[in-house]
Amino acid sequence: MSDEFNYGEIYAPIYEEYTTVQGKVAEVDETVAFLERYCNGGSALELGIGDGRVAVPLSQTGVKVEGIDNSCSMLKLLAERSDLIKAWQGDIAHFNSERRYNLVYCVYFTFPLLSTREAQIACLRSAAEALDDEGVLVIELWVPGLNPLVGGQQTTNARLVDHENTIVNVSVHDPLNQNLISTLLWFSGTSVRRLPQRVRYVYHQELDTMAECAGLELAERWGDWSRSAFTKRSERHISVYRRTSP
Ligand SMILES: C[S@@+](CC[C@H](N)C(=O)[O-])C[C@H]1O[C@@H](n2cnc3c(N)ncnc32)[C@H](O)[C@@H]1O
Repeated sequence: MSDEFNYGEIYAPIYEEYTTVQGKVAEVDETVAFLERYCNGGSALELGIGDGRVAVPLSQTGVKVEGIDNSCSMLKLLAERSDLIKAWQGDIAHFNSERRYNLVYCVYFTFPLLSTREAQIACLRSAAEALDDEGVLVIELWVPGLNPLVGGQQTTNARLVDHENTIVNVSVHDPLNQNLISTLLWFSGTSVRRLPQRVRYVYHQELDTMAECAGLELAERWGDWSRSAFTKRSERHISVYRRTSP
């Protein structure tokens, strides 16, 4: 991945503020309650651990949390927040874990940052190998909403407008590679920040197929962290996979 799209290095300086305005800090308790159920007080590995938004409170419940991230800046933020978590720099598409975990999880739309199908399947394979016999893989993914993109191939939409912030997302669609090349423009006070990213969007059924290739089968699928049903109106899903043959 080129540096132009290194999510962690681009977002680290503003990550806490950004996740707060996006409501991701507010939903952490629900996320942790969801994930904790699969750990039995044991161990968990977060793929793309970031600044520990989820990992730190999960570790405070008694779960032994470890994590991988490819961004030095994100790992530095994590180290500043907690010394309870062992985290290392690496690529979540290709990792070998020395130990097995009750839970491996990849949340907040980290998975599509792997911008090729091969990288996504490799990630699922690495994750499957890191699970213990009863372990589960939890992935949070957004449901692609592509209608505005199909005709024009590019779109601009307002993500957030309040009395202090305006966040606008401009995307160009590359349908051959299922890629969205986007720039978030974040206007706040007198400053404007430009945050580029490239993602490969995936529908839930394709995720299931890739997971099957990696030796995983779907066990549960929910529409949010409070276990609402996943329906045709859902804008995201939380999918739980088990190994097909432990
Ligand atoms: C959207 S943030 C999510 C961070 C954290 N999981 C959370 O929920 O707040 C994505 C994280 O994944 C990391 N990341 C992106 N691509 C990666 C890759 N190929 N290997 C390892 N980490 C990656 C980024 O550096 C960033 O910290």
